[in-house]
Amino acid sequence: MAHPGGRDPYITVGEILIWLLFVALLVPAGVVGWAIGHSTGGTRTVTRTVAAVSAPTRTAKTTTPARTTPSPPAAGNAATGKAVFTATPCGSCHTFKAAGSTAKVGPDLDTRPAVDAKQNHMPLAAFVRESILKPNAYISPGYKKGVMPQTFGKQLSTTQLADLVAFITAGK
Ligand code: HEC
Repeated sequence: MAHPGGRDPYITVGEILIWLLFVALLVPAGVVGWAIGHSTGGTRTVTRTVAAVSAPTRTAKTTTPARTTPSPPAAGNAATGKAVFTATPCGSCHTFKAAGSTAKVGPDLDTRPAVDAKQNHMPLAAFVRESILKPNAYISPGYKKGVMPQTFGKQLSTTQLADLVAFITAGK
């Protein structure tokens, strides 16, 4: 008998459809619940990510003043400074015995910086350093503004500059 056998599956299909309706109602409710839970979790994750990103930014800001700090120079090495003097063509404009140069475009570095530093009320080393970095800050009497290159501050490293100042001020 095929019909009684056929009824049971028919009822089963109906039951399945009812279960499917329940499931169809329960699943969206569950999904909404999970979605709220997940979206809250997602917000927390975003907050942590922002905190993690802002942390390296603060580190970078902390590093910047640390790089600025070493700029006040330590005592330079006069022997190395002679090489800097020769490599940077200071001698093409300046007389300086220790370097063996006799040019007269700029002041004699054996005598003039000491005189001009006093005129300018500056310690000799600080005056020489400023004269190399900003030649126009003080113009030696009898000489013209804008002749000495103003690019040495970019050309020379902090160490090279300190060595150069040590060489020029050595024994003075
Ligand atoms: C193109 C020529 C020229 C070159 C190159 C040059 N200078 Fe000068 N320098 C001058 C002139 C001109 C002056 C004077 C005007 C002034 O004070 O800026 C001067 C001034 C100076 C002073 C100040 C002297 C004083 O008594 O006021 C110092 C120190 C000095 N130079 C050092 C150097 C050193 C170190 C170099 C190499 C890194 C150099 N110069 C390269 C032309 C030059």
